[in-house]
Amino acid sequence: MSQYHSKAVDEDGLVAWSREEDAIWHDLMERQLSLVQTHACQEYLSGLTRLNLPRDRVPQLAEINQVLLPTTGWQVEPVAALISFDRFFQLLAHRRFPVATFLRSRAEFDYLQEPDFFHEVFGHCAMLTNPNFAHFTHVYGQLGHAAKPELRAYLARLYWFTVEFGLVNEGDQLKVYGGGILSSPGETQAALSAMGVQREAFNINRVLRTPYRIDIMQPIYFVLRDIDQLYQLSKLDLMAEVERAALDGLYPPLFSAKEFDHVQ
Ligand SMILES: [Fe+2]
Repeated sequence: MSQYHSKAVDEDGLVAWSREEDAIWHDLMERQLSLVQTHACQEYLSGLTRLNLPRDRVPQLAEINQVLLPTTGWQVEPVAALISFDRFFQLLAHRRFPVATFLRSRAEFDYLQEPDFFHEVFGHCAMLTNPNFAHFTHVYGQLGHAAKPELRAYLARLYWFTVEFGLVNEGDQLKVYGGGILSSPGETQAALSAMGVQREAFNINRVLRTPYRIDIMQPIYFVLRDIDQLYQLSKLDLMAEVERAALDGLYPPLFSAKEFDHVQ
């Protein structure tokens, strides 16, 4: 159950964001903008420039679509706070990125489990202007939509360790492209520099078999050699990889057993 509810979208596609929500958006932007300049990959930063998000108010969906649609054919789709796997994959398969139209409260400024409007827009939409990332996400949606329900947990891990928590090499530097990281100040710093965190070269079989939790700082990240690797991934027979991973089984989780009930 969510404590949040998406705000209504009127017949003109507008959301009536309040002054308080505009102020929260402003403060979130101020805090994250300086961090992403040094931590995000170039593809994300050029996407953010293209989006040209307002700082002093919450953007409207149409403003984002005006950039995404002519660039990669993607659009944002307003949804309820929580949606089913089925609906999620269906939207991605049609190049529609689900965006819940609610913003976190001040009480949860630093940390919330549910993806809010700031996470979806600031975290993800910049990368959706990149053709390789956009293509991968589209193919991923198509596969997920057609996949047997019992195999979807494997696909969820692929999404988690790429779109949400992916790292990428850029020259001799490590950068972030995952939206779950880039919309969280603590995780943006921890992902690149925290001690005791594993950062492994991306390997599809390893990723599909690595459990994760949604409510902790990630103990492991996977690193692409470049964003083009996502395009190469989309050309693989990913469902064959999923079936192989299902036969191989999961790796032991990198978090304690008593926390295991949140694992996916
Ligand atoms: Fe997300």
